[in-house]
Amino acid sequence: MTESRYETLARTLRRQIDTQVWLPGDRLPSLRESCKQSGLSLMTVLQAYQLLESQGVIVARPQSGYYVAAGLQRPVRRQPDERLHAAEQVDVNDAIFDILKAGQDPSVVPLGSAFPDPTLFPQPRLARSLASAVRRMSPHSATANLPPGNEELRRSIARRYAQNGIEVAPDEIVITSGAMESLGLSLQAVTEPGDWVAIESPAFYGALQAIERRKLKAIAIPTDVRFGMDPDALEKALETYPIKACWLMSSFQNPLGCTMPSDNKARLVDILQRHQVALIEDDVYSELYFGSERPVPLKASAYRSEILHCSSFSKCLAPGFRVGWVAAGKYVERIERLQLMSTLSASVPVQLALADFLQKGGQQGGYDTHLRRLRRVLEQRQMAMHHAIIKEFPAQVSVSQPQGGYFLWLDLGDNVDAARVYQRALAKGVSVAPGTMFSADERFRHCLRINTSFEWGPHTARAISVLAALVAEEIRG
Ligand SMILES: Cc1ncc(COP(=O)(O)O)c(C=O)c1O
Repeated sequence: MTESRYETLARTLRRQIDTQVWLPGDRLPSLRESCKQSGLSLMTVLQAYQLLESQGVIVARPQSGYYVAAGLQRPVRRQPDERLHAAEQVDVNDAIFDILKAGQDPSVVPLGSAFPDPTLFPQPRLARSLASAVRRMSPHSATANLPPGNEELRRSIARRYAQNGIEVAPDEIVITSGAMESLGLSLQAVTEPGDWVAIESPAFYGALQAIERRKLKAIAIPTDVRFGMDPDALEKALETYPIKACWLMSSFQNPLGCTMPSDNKARLVDILQRHQVALIEDDVYSELYFGSERPVPLKASAYRSEILHCSSFSKCLAPGFRVGWVAAGKYVERIERLQLMSTLSASVPVQLALADFLQKGGQQGGYDTHLRRLRRVLEQRQMAMHHAIIKEFPAQVSVSQPQGGYFLWLDLGDNVDAARVYQRALAKGVSVAPGTMFSADERFRHCLRINTSFEWGPHTARAISVLAALVAEEIRG
């Protein structure tokens, strides 16, 4: 499915509007000006403008031109909480487990799920790779693929780092059962129980669970919905507490969707380096960017030997295969040993299948073609849902504007209890992820995370209307 020229132009304009090149009420370039700038025909430009108009992004004023619709942007207004929050003991909310279970009910519209829409992945081609890998599997493959894992797969992953200008040798990579295992092993490699770890606030609940399991103490560092972890706050924390490791997401953070600007990335790396603190970088969403370039991870910096860069194929190629990896820097041997002492290795047939897929896909442009399509669909779906939220939710609700991934973060306002919205929405067949899942305390009780990867249609439209009505009721009290 290739994108037509008018869709590409509409997408470019929409991105300009999202990034505030054009503000609500601004007049867009006239059709004629736009033709000149883009080199496209009048008909193509008109189609692009009409598409944006049908989405409510712009409005046509007779005799005057096209204008950015009022109220399209509702960026989160709230300043992040500037205080550091230290927790001697992290107890993950029991509700998390109920919420994760509720997401498995097929009758529920799973806007609370962390999984992408499963229909977005190349299932038949993966099945062929799996069948072919199992057929060709040697009787010795179980032992040949013990940690660090299948060599071909590690080499394919190293090549993808190289394509992005990041120096990672195949020997630095350990294949794991999903990013969850690589993150857990990384945490174990750089801490002892009782140590302090700096995490984001709000943070992915998997980080909170891993910290609880290892009996670590956590410092929650203020994290901005646009710019990610605050480097100054991290520095203050490092000066105050004997922190052993920092765990963060520099791109498309879960749940906020934010990506750190390059200046902040450089500052953060400098701070970690001065304090000699290891970094666990969770980068599972970085392939899902909407712009023209993949965001650069902190792993690309000169501090890379102290950075354990964790990712997986779960969000971008093969959910359910449970294959991830860590580019572990100087910790690679420790990680291998920890894996040998725990899960032994990632499943061999699926490692071989992905090695096969990436090699064949590499020759035919298969993986990259899939990724390009995936990014485009995710961006279109996010735009549609973002627009519906702006249109239907009460004015006090603000919404994030990520440039990748598939989550929106909604601040409902202090007078709304998102945990109640969650319960009431579930009774109506819609799940959401309440803010309480993303911190060890009640700090984000007024927030929600919404998964935007599902097709925009009657089910999702109804789900958004149900949520909007419930939030309006909660606001009225
Ligand atoms: C931020 C983040 N990190 C890690 C993971 C786990 O990835 P995997 O499924 O590869 O274990 C998830 C899954 O939801 C996630 O959202």
